[in-house]
Amino acid sequence: MNIFIIGFMGSGKSSLAQRLSNILNLNFIDIDEEIENLSDLKISEIFQQKGEDEFRNIERQCLLNIINTDNNIIATGGGTPCFFDNMDVINKNGVSIYLKMTPAQLFRRLKNSKTPRPLVKELNYFQLKETIIYMLSKREKFYSQANYIVDGKNIDIKQIISFLNIDQSR
Ligand code: S3P
Repeated sequence: MNIFIIGFMGSGKSSLAQRLSNILNLNFIDIDEEIENLSDLKISEIFQQKGEDEFRNIERQCLLNIINTDNNIIATGGGTPCFFDNMDVINKNGVSIYLKMTPAQLFRRLKNSKTPRPLVKELNYFQLKETIIYMLSKREKFYSQANYIVDGKNIDIKQIISFLNIDQSR
Protein backbone atom coordinates (compact mmCIF):
# COMPACT_ATOMS: atom_id res chain seq x y z
CA MET A 1 0.00 0.00 0.00
CA ASN A 2 1.17 3.51 -0.80
CA ILE A 3 -0.28 6.54 0.98
CA PHE A 4 0.24 9.99 -0.52
CA ILE A 5 -0.05 13.12 1.60
CA ILE A 6 -0.89 16.06 -0.64
CA GLY A 7 -1.45 19.74 0.04
CA PHE A 8 -0.07 23.24 -0.35
CA MET A 9 3.48 24.26 0.53
CA GLY A 10 3.90 24.66 4.27
CA SER A 11 0.80 22.68 5.24
CA GLY A 12 2.85 20.15 7.22
CA LYS A 13 2.74 17.19 4.81
CA SER A 14 6.14 15.84 5.87
CA SER A 15 5.37 15.93 9.61
CA LEU A 16 2.04 14.18 9.10
CA ALA A 17 3.64 11.58 6.80
CA GLN A 18 6.42 10.97 9.33
CA ARG A 19 3.96 10.55 12.20
CA LEU A 20 1.88 8.09 10.20
CA SER A 21 4.94 6.19 9.01
CA ASN A 22 6.00 5.59 12.62
CA ILE A 23 2.55 4.47 13.72
CA LEU A 24 1.82 2.32 10.68
CA ASN A 25 5.33 1.01 10.17
CA LEU A 26 5.54 2.20 6.57
CA ASN A 27 8.58 3.73 4.83
CA PHE A 28 8.61 7.50 4.85
CA ILE A 29 9.42 9.10 1.48
CA ASP A 30 9.70 12.83 0.85
CA ILE A 31 9.37 13.52 -2.89
CA ASP A 32 11.45 16.70 -2.59
CA GLU A 33 14.32 14.64 -1.15
CA GLU A 34 13.93 12.06 -3.92
CA ILE A 35 14.11 14.87 -6.49
CA GLU A 36 17.28 16.22 -4.89
CA ASN A 37 18.85 12.75 -4.82
CA LEU A 38 17.92 11.96 -8.42
CA SER A 39 19.23 15.23 -9.79
CA ASP A 40 22.08 15.72 -7.33
CA LEU A 41 20.94 19.31 -6.88
CA LYS A 42 18.95 21.20 -4.24
CA ILE A 43 15.35 22.10 -5.19
CA SER A 44 16.31 25.78 -5.40
CA GLU A 45 19.27 24.93 -7.67
CA ILE A 46 17.03 22.94 -10.03
CA PHE A 47 14.63 25.90 -10.34
CA GLN A 48 17.55 28.28 -10.84
CA GLN A 49 19.64 26.23 -13.25
CA LYS A 50 17.03 24.21 -15.15
CA GLY A 51 13.74 26.04 -14.63
CA GLU A 52 10.34 24.91 -13.33
CA ASP A 53 9.44 22.75 -16.37
CA GLU A 54 12.47 20.55 -15.84
CA PHE A 55 11.73 20.44 -12.10
CA ARG A 56 8.24 19.12 -12.93
CA ASN A 57 9.73 16.47 -15.24
CA ILE A 58 12.04 15.24 -12.49
CA GLU A 59 9.20 15.34 -9.96
CA ARG A 60 7.06 13.26 -12.34
CA GLN A 61 9.89 10.74 -12.77
CA CYS A 62 10.25 10.42 -9.00
CA LEU A 63 6.52 9.81 -8.64
CA LEU A 64 6.69 7.06 -11.28
CA ASN A 65 9.68 5.49 -9.51
CA ILE A 66 7.85 5.51 -6.19
CA ILE A 67 4.75 3.73 -7.46
CA ASN A 68 6.94 0.81 -8.47
CA THR A 69 7.65 0.25 -4.78
CA ASP A 70 5.33 -0.60 -1.93
CA ASN A 71 4.56 0.12 1.73
CA ASN A 72 5.40 3.79 1.60
CA ILE A 73 3.92 6.91 3.04
CA ILE A 74 4.84 9.72 0.72
CA ALA A 75 4.99 13.43 1.45
CA THR A 76 4.48 14.94 -2.00
CA GLY A 77 5.61 18.42 -3.03
CA GLY A 78 2.89 21.06 -3.03
CA GLY A 79 2.79 21.02 -6.84
CA THR A 80 3.10 17.26 -7.39
CA PRO A 81 -0.63 16.51 -7.90
CA CYS A 82 -1.12 19.56 -10.10
CA PHE A 83 1.03 18.70 -13.14
CA PHE A 84 0.65 16.13 -15.95
CA ASP A 85 -1.85 13.48 -14.85
CA ASN A 86 0.00 13.05 -11.55
CA MET A 87 -3.19 13.15 -9.47
CA ASP A 88 -4.62 10.23 -11.48
CA VAL A 89 -1.35 8.35 -11.07
CA ILE A 90 -1.53 8.98 -7.31
CA ASN A 91 -5.13 7.83 -6.98
CA LYS A 92 -4.64 4.77 -9.19
CA ASN A 93 -1.63 3.64 -7.22
CA GLY A 94 -2.46 4.43 -3.65
CA VAL A 95 -4.58 6.30 -1.18
CA SER A 96 -4.41 10.08 -1.14
CA ILE A 97 -4.89 12.33 1.87
CA TYR A 98 -5.27 16.09 1.43
CA LEU A 99 -3.95 18.09 4.36
CA LYS A 100 -6.16 21.11 3.94
CA MET A 101 -5.42 24.58 5.31
CA THR A 102 -6.89 28.00 4.70
CA PRO A 103 -4.84 30.74 3.01
CA ALA A 104 -4.58 32.54 6.36
CA GLN A 105 -3.15 29.46 8.09
CA LEU A 106 -0.74 28.85 5.21
CA PHE A 107 0.38 32.46 5.30
CA ARG A 108 1.14 32.26 9.02
CA ARG A 109 3.21 29.12 8.50
CA LEU A 110 4.99 30.15 5.30
CA LYS A 111 5.99 33.59 6.47
CA ASN A 112 7.99 32.03 9.32
CA SER A 113 9.27 29.02 7.42
CA LYS A 114 13.01 28.43 7.11
CA THR A 115 12.61 26.00 4.19
CA PRO A 116 13.76 27.69 0.97
CA ARG A 117 10.87 27.54 -1.51
CA PRO A 118 11.72 28.98 -4.94
CA LEU A 119 8.11 29.84 -5.81
CA VAL A 120 7.62 32.12 -2.80
CA LYS A 121 11.00 32.99 -1.36
CA GLU A 122 11.36 36.40 -3.06
CA LEU A 123 7.91 37.65 -2.06
CA ASN A 124 7.07 40.30 0.50
CA TYR A 125 4.21 39.58 2.95
CA PHE A 126 1.59 41.22 0.77
CA GLN A 127 2.69 39.29 -2.34
CA LEU A 128 2.95 36.08 -0.33
CA LYS A 129 -0.67 36.43 0.84
CA GLU A 130 -1.91 37.12 -2.69
CA THR A 131 0.15 34.27 -4.18
CA ILE A 132 -1.17 31.74 -1.66
CA ILE A 133 -4.76 32.73 -2.45
CA TYR A 134 -4.14 32.61 -6.20
CA MET A 135 -2.16 29.34 -6.30
CA LEU A 136 -4.52 27.59 -3.92
CA SER A 137 -7.51 28.59 -6.08
CA LYS A 138 -5.77 26.98 -9.08
CA ARG A 139 -4.65 23.89 -7.20
CA GLU A 140 -7.71 23.12 -5.10
CA LYS A 141 -9.33 21.20 -7.98
CA PHE A 142 -6.43 18.73 -7.89
CA TYR A 143 -6.14 18.52 -4.10
CA SER A 144 -9.89 17.99 -3.73
CA GLN A 145 -9.65 14.75 -5.73
CA ALA A 146 -8.01 13.17 -2.68
CA ASN A 147 -9.61 10.10 -1.17
CA TYR A 148 -9.64 11.70 2.26
CA ILE A 149 -9.47 15.30 3.44
CA VAL A 150 -7.91 16.26 6.77
CA ASP A 151 -8.53 19.59 8.45
CA GLY A 152 -4.96 20.82 8.95
CA LYS A 153 -5.92 22.76 12.07
CA ASN A 154 -7.47 19.76 13.68
CA ILE A 155 -5.48 16.67 12.76
CA ASP A 156 -7.09 13.57 14.21
CA ILE A 157 -4.58 10.76 13.69
CA LYS A 158 -6.97 8.11 15.02
CA GLN A 159 -9.58 9.10 12.46
CA ILE A 160 -7.04 8.98 9.63
CA ILE A 161 -5.92 5.54 10.72
CA SER A 162 -9.45 4.28 10.95
CA PHE A 163 -10.11 5.62 7.43
CA LEU A 164 -7.01 3.81 6.19
CA ASN A 165 -8.23 0.67 7.88
CA ILE A 166 -4.71 -0.71 8.31
CA ASP A 167 -4.03 -3.43 10.82
CA GLN A 168 -1.39 -1.81 13.09
CA SER A 169 -0.28 -5.14 14.49
CA ARG A 170 1.19 -6.19 11.11
C1 S3P B 1 6.42 23.29 -4.65
C2 S3P B 1 6.46 22.82 -3.36
C3 S3P B 1 7.70 22.40 -2.70
C4 S3P B 1 8.73 21.94 -3.74
C5 S3P B 1 8.92 22.98 -4.77
C6 S3P B 1 7.64 23.34 -5.51
C7 S3P B 1 5.12 23.71 -5.22
O1 S3P B 1 7.44 21.33 -1.79
O2 S3P B 1 8.33 20.74 -4.33
O3 S3P B 1 9.46 24.12 -4.14
O4 S3P B 1 5.01 23.84 -6.45
O5 S3P B 1 4.16 23.90 -4.43
P1 S3P B 1 6.71 21.55 -0.35
O6 S3P B 1 5.24 21.53 -0.59
O7 S3P B 1 7.18 20.38 0.44
O8 S3P B 1 7.20 22.85 0.17
